[in-house]
Amino acid sequence: MSFQNILIQDKDRIQYIIINRESKLNALNQATLAELHTALTQAFSNNNVGGIIITGAGTKAFVAGADISEFAGKDVDSGRRIAYDGQSNVFDVIAGGNKPVIAAVNGFALGGGLELAMACHIRIASDNAKMGLPEVTLGLIPGYGGTQRLTQLVGRGKALEMIMTADMVTAADALALGLVNHVVTQDELLPKAEELLNKILTRAPLALAAAIRAVNDAHADGANGFDTEIEEFARCFGTKDFKEGVSAFLEKRKPEFKGK
Ligand code: COA
Repeated sequence: MSFQNILIQDKDRIQYIIINRESKLNALNQATLAELHTALTQAFSNNNVGGIIITGAGTKAFVAGADISEFAGKDVDSGRRIAYDGQSNVFDVIAGGNKPVIAAVNGFALGGGLELAMACHIRIASDNAKMGLPEVTLGLIPGYGGTQRLTQLVGRGKALEMIMTADMVTAADALALGLVNHVVTQDELLPKAEELLNKILTRAPLALAAAIRAVNDAHADGANGFDTEIEEFARCFGTKDFKEGVSAFLEKRKPEFKGK
């Protein structure tokens, strides 16, 4: 399938999804979100893809937000649909994905851009990155999960300060807040993301998926994360990878996981 707004690049078991609207600082219009939905769904069901790195084209922006030009003239029902469709078709798909997704934040990550990064399982930022949720400057609030995921990552007080001031934070501040996992130079960004993901991809794939589900249930509506953990832990015992992992340990060799 060919895309107009995103680029897909495969490098061994890593798939890059690159938001590719550089002249608009990679702003997420509806067409881009639809392509992201398709690309993510395909990647999650493609056995050749072990994990995903999402980044933005160019050196200036990861994603400078939802495409503001598409908001003009929209009414309450449209607003509800934009947020609901965006969350369920893209942002929740990433967060609930069965494979690790890393955001390589290579510049501005604002509004929907920061929400995209926060939906990913891990965030690495380049030292020039700036992050914020400036929606209140437009008379809006974040609609792609930002009020919830920022609160989960940095706590209620800092989240409300960032959302209500609309201020951007630097990469160094984001690291101190726990909003990103690592900060590196621009040149080191993709190598660092690959290094981290390649290490993760040496681990048992079904266990990775189980870990994502259990951790997500720490904040899922109506779920008891401890119960989820018990069930996911138990299911791991039924996998071939579990037998391989334990055998490899006892035989003092590296495990060869097959995702079964
Ligand atoms: N939606 C639509 N277009 C956007 C955009 C967005 N969120 N962010 C940037 N663009 C476009 C600009 O309109 C401009 O297009 P043009 O050249 O056709 O006029 C182009 O991207 C370059 O942006 P520009 O504003 O000229 O770059 P800058 O370096 O002066 O400023 C930002 C960079 C990120 C500070 C500024 O673009 C900005 O504030 N963007 C909006 C951020 C935002 O509010 N995001 C939340 C949306 S909910």
